[in-house]
Formats: sequence, structure tokens, C-alpha cells
Amino acid sequence: MEKYPGKKNIAVFISGRGSNLRSLIKYSKKKNSLIKIKLTVSNNPNAEGLKYAFKSKIKTYGIKFKNKSNFEKNVLKLLKKNNIDIVCLAGFMKILSGSFIRKFSRPILNIHPSLLPKYKGLNTHERAIKNKDKFAGASVHKVTEKLDSGKVILQKKVKILKSDNVKILEKKVLKVEHEIYPKAIDKFLTNL
Ligand code: GRF
Repeated sequence: MEKYPGKKNIAVFISGRGSNLRSLIKYSKKKNSLIKIKLTVSNNPNAEGLKYAFKSKIKTYGIKFKNKSNFEKNVLKLLKKNNIDIVCLAGFMKILSGSFIRKFSRPILNIHPSLLPKYKGLNTHERAIKNKDKFAGASVHKVTEKLDSGKVILQKKVKILKSDNVKILEKKVLKVEHEIYPKAIDKFLTNL
């Protein structure tokens, strides 16, 4: 991939609410942002986030996930057609196959609600509280064929208070997610 100055074309993949997508859209509109969000893809055609992307005049594709290989085949076509440089997973709840990752052959980033390498997979906050951890947090990392295991680009901690429950912690970490995803993209692109 050639080095910046051209803005990179981004596709954001979501499955639901899309609050991280919102934060990325907000960032992309800043004068100095390094990205242009060209499309939003969801495995769930009813995802709330798609409505917001549509309102923001971003192309949206809600593609029913009947089987992984069909879904991925269609999505790869879209990525190619729209000349996408980077895919950003933001609350995308499906695991992409190795074949998809290889065929796309450009960077895929993900935001994960834990301090990786701790708590890969689901129910991160529940596990952190159960283990009486002092800190939780969020990580932006490169996607590889091994789940939540690619190189961490940026992470930020939040303190877990004794009074925190899963819901409270989720809210605190989500705020941090919104803050670090744009920063991580900046960092990633300026270090290419
Ligand atoms: C976020 O906590 C993300 O890290 C996780 O799923 C949640 C999605 O939230 N994988 P949203 O759709 O971005 O609001």
C-alpha cells in the first residue's frame, strides 16, 4: 500500500448498534483525517448502525448471513468494486475465514473490548470482573487468522471499581473504544 497522503478507503463491518461506526464516521469528517469511509457492511440487514451510515450518505450493505462462503464471496466483490484499502471491524460478530483474509490481502483491523492478549473472544467484562482484575480496557489490533491475536496497535486501560458491574464496565470501556479506534487508525496509517 502506498504511503499517505491519499485518504484511504475504508469499509466498516458491523453487526448491531454501530456506536464505533459513529465514532469513525465523526473522525473521517475531520479535515485532517486520513480516511474516507466508503461503505458499511453488515451481516444483519436490520443493524441499527446501517441506518446511521445511510443518513451519513455512506453506501450500506446488509447481507443476510446464510452461509459464510457466500457472504464472504459477495463482500469481497464489494470491497474490490469500491477499491477498499482497509477493513475496520467494529462490533462485527462473525469470524472471517482465513481464505477471506488472504484473498482481501489488505489490512483488516478490529476493536476488542479487553486488554489483549487477555480475554480473547466473548464476555470480556464478565471475565475481568469475575477474576477481580484491577483494570479492563480496549484494544485495536490487526486481524489475522487466529482470533483476536494479531498485533495490537493501540490499547487503553480503565480502572475497574469495586462497585462496577458488567453493564457499568461495558459503558466505561465503550467510551474508550470510541476514543482509541480513530487514534489507532491514524497511528497505523502514519507508520505504514
Ligand atoms: C463493542 O464493545 C465492540 O468492541 C464489541 O462489540 C461492541 C459493539 O458496539 N466487539 P457498537 O456496535 O460499536 O456500538
